Amino acid sequence: TEVDMPYRPTIHFTPTTGFMNDPNGLVFDGTQYHLYYQYNPFAPYAGHVHWGHATSPDLLHWTDQPIALDETGAGEAFTGCAVMDSHNASGLFRTPQGGMVALYTRASPHAQAQYLATSYDNGQTFEEYARNPVLDISSNSFRDPQVCFHKPTGRWVMVVAKSRLHQIAFYASIDLVHWVHLSDFGPSGLFGVDYECPNLIEVAVEGGGTRWMLFVSVNPGAPTGGSITQYFVGQFDGTRFIPDNTVIGLTDFAKDAYALQVYSNMPDAEAVSIAWLGNWQYAQELPTQSWRGAMTLPRTMVLRRDFTGGLRLAQTPRGLDTLRDTPLACPAGRLAAGESRQVSLPQGRAVELCMSVTVDERPHGLKLGDKGRTGRFIITFGNEGGEKLTIGFDAFSGQLWLDRSNLAGFAQPFFTGQFSTALAPDDRHFEIRIVLDACTLEIFADGGLAVGTALVFPASPLEFLRLEASGAGATIGSLNLYPLRKTMP
Ligand code: FRU
Repeated sequence: TEVDMPYRPTIHFTPTTGFMNDPNGLVFDGTQYHLYYQYNPFAPYAGHVHWGHATSPDLLHWTDQPIALDETGAGEAFTGCAVMDSHNASGLFRTPQGGMVALYTRASPHAQAQYLATSYDNGQTFEEYARNPVLDISSNSFRDPQVCFHKPTGRWVMVVAKSRLHQIAFYASIDLVHWVHLSDFGPSGLFGVDYECPNLIEVAVEGGGTRWMLFVSVNPGAPTGGSITQYFVGQFDGTRFIPDNTVIGLTDFAKDAYALQVYSNMPDAEAVSIAWLGNWQYAQELPTQSWRGAMTLPRTMVLRRDFTGGLRLAQTPRGLDTLRDTPLACPAGRLAAGESRQVSLPQGRAVELCMSVTVDERPHGLKLGDKGRTGRFIITFGNEGGEKLTIGFDAFSGQLWLDRSNLAGFAQPFFTGQFSTALAPDDRHFEIRIVLDACTLEIFADGGLAVGTALVFPASPLEFLRLEASGAGATIGSLNLYPLRKTMP
């Protein structure tokens, strides 16, 4: 509807109508990328869960496809995965080159079990396996299977959440149909109420080698409130996941990236993820009316040894440079203390701001106790109505913050406004990429080690970008503001 127009992202996937949550069945079929998703086609609220479907040649331009899995008498079609059974290990295909297999949870109020479906037309339509469920432990909190092929043992490995037990169960299979229990992981890290949407993947370490990562979504129970995806770095020996240490990582310092899922069957084992750009605390109350829910941009994931010596996840938006239009005139250079610079934003378009900034040493004459109050660099997306979305860097403490509390389009007790994270200590210098696309904001700092994902609802469109050096001067080393070409109809 008209009223929803300003909030509809132009490069992030959203459903035309209805309610969307988790990404499902993320798989590359050799030609196209598939994005299935938790979908209520009937209303902009969670319920009657189907698998919606879209396809893309590049993970950025999406074409809507017919619903892939319906709600049935056995229950709703909850979260799951898709894999390419390229050698017909399942024996369910008529040709040796096999096809796509989906594994997902059927959920009724009393039971959750894992189901299998095959697709003979590259993921357009699915046929449910006749002897479903393929995995049933008589539980009502057993869901969200994700499957990867484990080369060293030559078998498929499934991770699936025993949600209320705060455990991730590991199973193995040679045919995707018969599953043998291997081990349980957890409780570990954040406790919360439910463990959901586990994902296991081998990820490249910058500088060489690989490490296994286990992602576990927790809801509610995030430090920032509600839903969050945590991760563990370690080793998978074919039976058990052994974390390197007791440290958990969080994929986001804000609160709107949940149920992260990784792509299966990626060429060169590239690790790429998409998360739901939302949080269960307010997902069903967002001020859009005909549709609710968006996906994050696809993100490339690598592990990087950070300044503390630990391995941390770095996420960067994948392929975004292909959408860049001519950058808007927006000069780099110096800003004296208290000085600011302002440019207008193109309307109805997503923008990407890439910049590197060095804040000056504190001015001479200031006493030690004063230095905490000097040297902030403030990035504001604002409008004449006084609404503003702020991203700031405090050079003294090396912290980055994000403040959406001065936007008037949505108020709800859990829709909290301010988030912050610490960047690597780097001599008052920071680098940042910010993507603002209607009601979505994604921030990537420290080369992807610090990621903040947030829904943003200004009551009126944001009209300008202001850069301000506060308390100390700053040098903007590089600055590019790109309008991004629309990818969604
Ligand atoms: C996570 C989740 C999953 C479940 C699905 C239902 O957001 O609760 O555990 O399968 O959503 O839509």
